[in-house]
Amino acid sequence: MSKARNLLLASLLLCLHYSPLSGATGPGFVGRITDKGLDYARQEGVAALQQKLAQLTLPDFSGSFRVKVIGRVDYKLYSLNIRSFQLPSSAIAPVPGTGLKVSITNAFAEVTGDWLVKKRWFKDHGSFDLKVEGISISVGLKLGADASGRPTVGTADCAAHISDVKVHFSGRLSWLYNLFHKNIESSFRNTMEGKVCEEVSSSIGSKLQPFLQTLPVTARIDKVSGIDYSLVAPPVASQNSLDLDLKGEFFSLAHRSAPPFTPPALAFPVDHDRMLYFGISTYFFNTAGLVYYGAGEMNFFITDDMVPKEFKVRLNTTCFKPFVPQLEKLYPNMLMKLQVSPSSAPSLTITPDAISLSPAVDIRAFAILPNASLASLFVIGASTTMSAKVSVNSTKIFGSLKLGKLQLSLKHSDVGPFSVQLMEAIMNYLASSTLLPAMNARLAEGFPLPLPDHVELSSAFLQLRQDFLLFGADVRYG
Ligand SMILES: *[C@@H]1O[C@H](CO)[C@@H](O)[C@H](O)[C@H]1NC(C)=O
Ligand SMILES: *[C@@H]1O[C@H](CO)[C@@H](O)[C@H](O)[C@H]1NC(C)=O
Ligand SMILES: *[C@@H]1O[C@H](CO)[C@@H](O)[C@H](O)[C@H]1NC(C)=O
Repeated sequence: MSKARNLLLASLLLCLHYSPLSGATGPGFVGRITDKGLDYARQEGVAALQQKLAQLTLPDFSGSFRVKVIGRVDYKLYSLNIRSFQLPSSAIAPVPGTGLKVSITNAFAEVTGDWLVKKRWFKDHGSFDLKVEGISISVGLKLGADASGRPTVGTADCAAHISDVKVHFSGRLSWLYNLFHKNIESSFRNTMEGKVCEEVSSSIGSKLQPFLQTLPVTARIDKVSGIDYSLVAPPVASQNSLDLDLKGEFFSLAHRSAPPFTPPALAFPVDHDRMLYFGISTYFFNTAGLVYYGAGEMNFFITDDMVPKEFKVRLNTTCFKPFVPQLEKLYPNMLMKLQVSPSSAPSLTITPDAISLSPAVDIRAFAILPNASLASLFVIGASTTMSAKVSVNSTKIFGSLKLGKLQLSLKHSDVGPFSVQLMEAIMNYLASSTLLPAMNARLAEGFPLPLPDHVELSSAFLQLRQDFLLFGADVRYG
């Protein structure tokens, strides 16, 4: 199997896991695989399963039949080898309240092997070929989540039926044994029917379930944060989709603590036109804001070289003298530097009309001394409102920000009293001519969507909903 397919299966399986974690907190991130998405996964999965089945080893098989006069004759079929296994038709569907139903119909296989017949002193052997037709298998998968938020899977039910088996013996006395083909065929069929479900249940219990237990439920983002995507409830199967409620929470790698707010309830729409949908809650973004604010990782600097050339008021103590009378005296003709950092964790709100933020920041002003060290001048608190636009194409997510007017207040001064209101116009200009273009340039470059190798999205869209972003897309393995 290719790496892409493994990733696909892994992500499907990831989606198949929900967990009844601590208490009743809602999800910060919801994933939905629609029946269209499940069907795509089925095609990929069946191709993989077909390969697996062709490699299945069948056990030796023995029985007996009665021949007039001679009596009971024992036979054994051994060295069974599956020549081909075809799964021409299959279906997967969510089962409300349980999980998934996978059904395979009209599958067929060809098996070759050797036979041995024994009757006291008499022994004969040869080869045979066997056609198994009209194989149907129906497996119900029960999906759940364990205490760590990993998915669980078990066999809810299984039924297998084979409509036809044809065996043909070759060898010295094969004409004789061919007379008893019906007897052998029905016996083979009964055994195989039982064997199929036994195999399915044991693969699920001993391979799939342990595999799910090894899935990570957190991922490291960078040196500051990780993201927790464990299930907060078992997967919910409904008529047309399978929904996964994931924690969707950023946490500090250095010291994880519970955020002081809980996820809002998400009114996830009933759409199922696309294969995949994601609901990304404000909780997701706001826990990120909390972590990066807590780590002191949100500092922006404004220096004179960032101020547009045509602007007359430079970022230096000479130009700031009209606003801060003592400045020129204390620090004559020196360049200045502004440090902008949030004074509380930034948080955003999402409504169907807009994404808005009301950041409160501290603007720290420094004079750059001749020996390059910084002398603290003053600290201004600024609050504003910002609105954001976001969009996606099939590979990236983009954004742009709009800035409202800054409201200033003087928090601290090392250079005597001054009226901060006089500075409002210039601070607004600096923010909209330096900070904003820098942030928008970065947001316009976009951030790659976290997709496994060889996975392509199409028909991607992003919409604003109350308290969350709704992302939908179709998936293709290229
Ligand atoms: C400050 O700006 C003024 C006006 O552009 C300029 O004349 C002066 O040289 C600047 N001072 C520094 C230190 O850059
Ligand atoms: C830079 O100069 C200032 C004022 O002259 C002085 O207080 C400070 O210690 C100097 N810093 C360094 C790193 O030399
Ligand atoms: C998505 O946008 C990026 C950046 O503008 C661009 O390079 C890429 O080709 C776009 N992809 C598609 C499929 O339009």
